[in-house]
Amino acid sequence: MAFYYTEPSRTFSEFLLIPNLTTKECNPGNVNLKTPITKFKKGEQPAISLNIPFSSAVMQSVSDHNMAVALARCGGISFIYGSQSVEDQAEMVRKAKSYKAGFVVSRSNLTANHTLRDVLELKEKTGHSTVAITDDGSPKGKLLGIVTSRDYRTSRDPLDKPISEFMTPFSSLIYGKSGITLSEANDLIWEHKLNCLPVVDAEQKLDYLVFRKDYDAHKENPLGLLDANKSYIVGAGINTKDYMERVPALVDAGVDILVIDSSDGYSEWQRETVQYVKSNFHVKIGAGNVVDREGFLYLVESGADFVKVGIGGGSICITREQKGIGRGQASALIEVAAARDKYFDETGIYVPICSDGGIVHDYHITLALAMGADFVMMGRYFARFDESPTKKLKVGNNFVKEFWGEGSNRARNWQRYDTGGKQGLVFEEGVDSYVPYAGSLRENLDKTISKIKSTMCNCGSTSIAELQKKARITLVSATSLVEGGAHDVILKESTMSGE
Ligand code: IMP
Repeated sequence: MAFYYTEPSRTFSEFLLIPNLTTKECNPGNVNLKTPITKFKKGEQPAISLNIPFSSAVMQSVSDHNMAVALARCGGISFIYGSQSVEDQAEMVRKAKSYKAGFVVSRSNLTANHTLRDVLELKEKTGHSTVAITDDGSPKGKLLGIVTSRDYRTSRDPLDKPISEFMTPFSSLIYGKSGITLSEANDLIWEHKLNCLPVVDAEQKLDYLVFRKDYDAHKENPLGLLDANKSYIVGAGINTKDYMERVPALVDAGVDILVIDSSDGYSEWQRETVQYVKSNFHVKIGAGNVVDREGFLYLVESGADFVKVGIGGGSICITREQKGIGRGQASALIEVAAARDKYFDETGIYVPICSDGGIVHDYHITLALAMGADFVMMGRYFARFDESPTKKLKVGNNFVKEFWGEGSNRARNWQRYDTGGKQGLVFEEGVDSYVPYAGSLRENLDKTISKIKSTMCNCGSTSIAELQKKARITLVSATSLVEGGAHDVILKESTMSGE
C-alpha cells in the first residue's frame, strides 16, 4: 500500500512569524546576513560563505555573466545557466571571473619582444587597454613596463615596432609594494593621477594591478563576494549528462562552485556526477532538488557540499500539473532542515540548504531562512531587473521583461528533466512568460534586505543562525489570510509592483 502523509504540504503564504522580544541592540544596523553555502565541520569555517543569503536561478532568462557580477558585488551568488554549449558557458564564467574588483591579477600580458601588432591583437581579444610587460609574458613575471593606448599611435607607428621601444619602462613607473592596502593604493592613484597602479613584490615580480575605476566601485560594495584574487565568486549549473566535458571547462574558466540543475535530484545520476566531481576536482558542488529527508541524506552521503530544496514551486513551473510530483515549498524545507540539523548533531557536519523557487513576497525569504534555509535561490525575482539577460518590452502601458522556464519549449533544457529516457524534451514542464520590469538589482535588493533585517529584529535576531533557533512560526487560516492584506477600504490607486 502507498505511504500517505498525514499533513497536507504547505507553502510560505500559509505561515507567519510571531515577534520575540526586540532588545535595543537588535536593530537593522547590527544584523549580519552572512551565511554558509558549503558544508563544514563543527567549529570550522565554511570554504565559501555568502554575505547576503541570495542566489540567482540556473536559468537562461536569469543568470549570465552580467547578473553574476551584479549579484556578487552585492554579496550574493549567481549560478550561470548550463543550458548552452560548454564553450559558451565557460566563456561567461571567464568573463565574470575576470571582472575586476580592487586588486586584480593582470589578464593582458606580453613580453618586451612582442610588437605593436601583438598589443593591438590582444586588445581586440580582451578589450583591455592596459598591458603588463613581464620578462616571460606571464601575469606574475618580473615587471618590465606597462603599455596603455597613450604609448602608441596606430596611424604613425609601424605594426612591427617592438614593445621595448614604446612601453613605459619600470624605471618610470609609479608602483605599489606587495601588502599595500587598497586605500593606500588609491592614494597613490590619486596623487599621481594614474589610471592603473601595478603592485610588485621585493623581486619586482608583478603581483596585482589596481585600477582607478575599480576602487570607486569597490568602495560602494563593501559586501562584494570576492575570492583570494579579488575576483568575484561565481557559480555555474551543470547537468548529469555531459559533466565530464562541462566540468573541466568550467573549472579551467575559474568557476568557484557548481550546482547540479535538475527538477528531481534524488537519483543515481546525481550521485555519479557528485562523485566524479569530488574525485577529480577541488571545486565545490551542490546537488538537488529534493523535498524530503531521504533525498537530502542520499545527496549528502554522495558528497554534496550543499543541497537544494524544492520541486514544482517555481513561478514558471508546471511540473506539478504535468507530472503530479512535488511538495509545498514550506513543508519540503521544514522536513529537510530537520534532517540537516539531525545530521549535524550526529556527525558534526553542517550541510547548508538552499530553498529554491516559489518566493513571491520578500517576507517569504525571511520565512525560508527562519524555517532553516541558509540561502534562497530565485528566478522570477531577479528576472525583473535591468541586469537579467532578457529583453525589456512594453506590453500595454507597462514595461515587462521576458522570463521563461528551463523546461519550456523555448529553453528546451531536457537534461534538467531527463530520467534516462529519450534525449530531448518530450513535454514541457515550464512556461514562457513576462514579469513586471522593476529597475535595478541594487535598488530592489536594498529594499528587500531592509525588510528582512527589520523582520529579523522583530524576531529578536541579529543573525540567520539566531533566527533559525529563535523563530516562532504559526500557520494561518484561510480566513486570516484576508486580514493580512489591505481590506475593507477603497484603495486610491492600484499599483503594479512585483512585491
Ligand atoms: P522562481 O523563483 O519561483 O521563479 O523559481 C525559480 C526556480 O524554478 C528555479 O531555480 C528552478 O529550480 C525552477 N525552474 C526553472 N525553470 C523551470 C521550469 O521550466 N519548470 C519547472 N521549474 C523550473
